[in-house]
Amino acid sequence: MQFVTRPLVGLTLLCLVPLAVQAQQDGGISNEAAANMARNCFACHGPQGRSPGTIPSLHQHSADKIVALMKGFKSGDEPSTVMGRHAKGYSEPEIEAIARYIAGLNKR
Ligand code: HEC
Repeated sequence: MQFVTRPLVGLTLLCLVPLAVQAQQDGGISNEAAANMARNCFACHGPQGRSPGTIPSLHQHSADKIVALMKGFKSGDEPSTVMGRHAKGYSEPEIEAIARYIAGLNKR
């Protein structure tokens, strides 16, 4: 029986590798947590990041673009009125999770 189970165990472990890598990239932040944080953004940037007013929309941006802008706001390289203070409240893994969540909404 061992000759059957061994490869199965190996295969199962191999299948877990992408999951582990994914969890690491997310900094352990679940999609639900990202969705909750993104709700704060939508208060100003409109539902799903589609702003009805003068605040820029987010829905047209890629995740990478949102991350780059947020890091710029955080460091002060990107000039802002409110976003600098806002971005400082989030860690980099949180920013990346929020950005992926917002960018992912627009693929649906
Ligand atoms: C209090 C309202 C408010 C909240 C909440 C808010 N933003 Fe903003 N955001 C703004 C304003 C206003 C700007 C324009 C830059 C500035 O003046 O700070 C902006 C600009 C941006 C930009 C640049 C868009 C562009 O095209 O230039 C990004 C990206 C962004 N916000 C992401 C976020 C994310 C992600 C969140 C949630 C974590 C968030 N914002 C929460 C008001 C807000």
